[in-house]
Amino acid sequence: MDAGLAERLRDGTRAHHRATERAGIMPALLGGRLSVWRFAALQRNLHEIYGALEPALERHAGHAAIAAIHQPVLERCGHLAADLIDLHGPAWRDELPVVPATLDYVERIRRLEHDEPEALVAHAYVRYLGDLAGGQVLKGIVARSFNLDAGKGTGFYDFGAPDQVARLARDFRAGLALVPQHGASIDRLVAEACWAFDQHVLLFCGLETV
Ligand code: HEM
Repeated sequence: MDAGLAERLRDGTRAHHRATERAGIMPALLGGRLSVWRFAALQRNLHEIYGALEPALERHAGHAAIAAIHQPVLERCGHLAADLIDLHGPAWRDELPVVPATLDYVERIRRLEHDEPEALVAHAYVRYLGDLAGGQVLKGIVARSFNLDAGKGTGFYDFGAPDQVARLARDFRAGLALVPQHGASIDRLVAEACWAFDQHVLLFCGLETV
C-alpha cells in the first residue's frame, strides 16, 4: 500500500527539517545564547507568517483539503501578539524588523490562497506539527533563557497539557489522511513543505544580521 500523506511529508522533508534546525539563529536559540531582542524579532516575523496563513485557512475552511486539517484551536497569531508585548513591549510591531524572507513567505501564501488553496495544507503541516513537536522543546529553553515569569512570553508554544498536545498532533495527522489526494498532489504538497522549510532557513539566517 502507498504511504499516506503524513508519512510522505515526514520522509520527504526530513533532510530539510535537519537543515532548518541548524540554520542561522537556531543553534543560539537552542543553546540559550540568543538575546531576548533577537528572539522577539523571530516571533515578530512568525506573527507576519501566521497572520497570512491563518486567515487564508479560515477563508478556505470549506475547501475539502483545508477542512480536513483546519483546527482553529491551533491558531497562533493572537498568542504571538500577546507574547510580543511581554517580550518587547507595545511598540513591537513598529520596532522589530521584518526580514525579506518573511515578506517572500507571506507573498507565497497569498499567491497560493488565490491560485492553489489546497497547497496551504503543506504550510499548516510545517508550522503546526513543528509547534506541537520541536516547539515544545523550545518552550522550556525560552522560559529559562529569558527568565520569564510562568506563562509570560511563551503563549505561542502553549497548546495545553502534554496529553492535549499529543492529541492535537494525532488529530492533525488523522486530518492529513482525509486530504483528497492522488500521486501528483502528494508530490506537490511534499515539494511545498520543502519550500517552507527552506524559507525558514532563509528567515533564521536573515535574523542573524538584523
Ligand atoms: C530548532 C529546533 C527544532 C527542534 C529541536 C525540533 C525538533 C523536533 C522533534 C523532536 C520532532 C519530533 C519528531 C518525531 O515525532 O518523530 C519534530 C518534528 C517536526 N518539526 Fe521540528 N524541530 C525544530 C525546529 C523546527 C522548525 C523551525 C520547524 C518548521 C519550520 C519544524 C517543523 C517540524 C515538523 C513539521 C515536524 C513533524 C514531523 C512529522 O512527524 O511529520 N521543526 N521537530
